[in-house]
Amino acid sequence: MKVFKGAILIVAIALFVGCKSGITILTPEKQKDVFTIAFGSCNKHTVENKLWDDVIASDPDVWIWGGDIVYADTDNAQKIGKMYEVQKKVTGYDTLREKIQIIGTWDDHDYGLNDGGAEFASKRESQEVFLDFLDVPKESNRRKQEGVYASHSYDLPSGSVKILILDTRYFRSPLTPAKERGKRYEPGIYGEGTVLGDEQWNWLEDELRNSKAEFNILVSSIQFLSNQHGFECWGNFPHEVDKLKGIIEKSNAKGVIILSGDRHISEFSADRIQGVAYPLVDFTSSGLTHVYSSYSGEPNPYRIGEVVAKKSFGIVKINLHTKEVLFEMIGNNGNILNALTEQY
Ligand SMILES: [Fe+2]
Repeated sequence: MKVFKGAILIVAIALFVGCKSGITILTPEKQKDVFTIAFGSCNKHTVENKLWDDVIASDPDVWIWGGDIVYADTDNAQKIGKMYEVQKKVTGYDTLREKIQIIGTWDDHDYGLNDGGAEFASKRESQEVFLDFLDVPKESNRRKQEGVYASHSYDLPSGSVKILILDTRYFRSPLTPAKERGKRYEPGIYGEGTVLGDEQWNWLEDELRNSKAEFNILVSSIQFLSNQHGFECWGNFPHEVDKLKGIIEKSNAKGVIILSGDRHISEFSADRIQGVAYPLVDFTSSGLTHVYSSYSGEPNPYRIGEVVAKKSFGIVKINLHTKEVLFEMIGNNGNILNALTEQY
């Protein structure tokens, strides 16, 4: 085991001219091989979240919101902003904010419209209050672009991690209502509609193609792999699933991992992409304050292990030296509810 004395964790300054989502962040000095991500989604700001002390105890380097930070469901951005203000003062979350960097994306309820997409009229105003919540500087290019997608890079002595925050709301085309009873949506016509929109796709392709990181983490509010439950997922736009798989393959990006939320259940899914040496893991962590407690099963051809329908958050421990990643679902009192290890 190498010892890295005086090594520092540097978060890259990505304010390149023309960069659509450059972010500048500085975090404390660290000396280590392991980068730890904590993330979660579906958080009612009015309901007690008993997990913040457990998140802090897991000593992560970054907290990633996977969406549904508040349940606003309104086109009044001022009201959404007020809810974010309440969330910022929540005991435990306020401590976490002081300790570590907080980044992330939105989903439909904090965006403002249940299952909403590009059609949402207040999306610009909603974006402003969302970026206020994340303390994104007023002069940031992320304020000037449409959509909340962003790139964050972390350099450690033994390698780097890139986190690509996706926006699956701002540009998303209308969904196709399901004909089958018990399902809300079904896959649309292959080739029609988009999840990310052209500009975000171009940005993502560039970010992956030019990435020198050992691990590239994609944060998608909705599930990428699980595609048979009939709710929102990338699978409702099957050509967009193939497009991302194709970009992952062609870009030669190392260690691509997807983090998702939305479902009020947590599960691990994995798939093999032809020409990619490692399995593509989609770690869904959903339900910080409320879960799908009546969950009785749903098909997911990509699932690994059991579904967890308990309040939890996700931990991703990336060892840049051994290239081993530990994925964990953590419940109240630090209980490990499910775990998966993958070698990259
Ligand atoms: Fe939710």
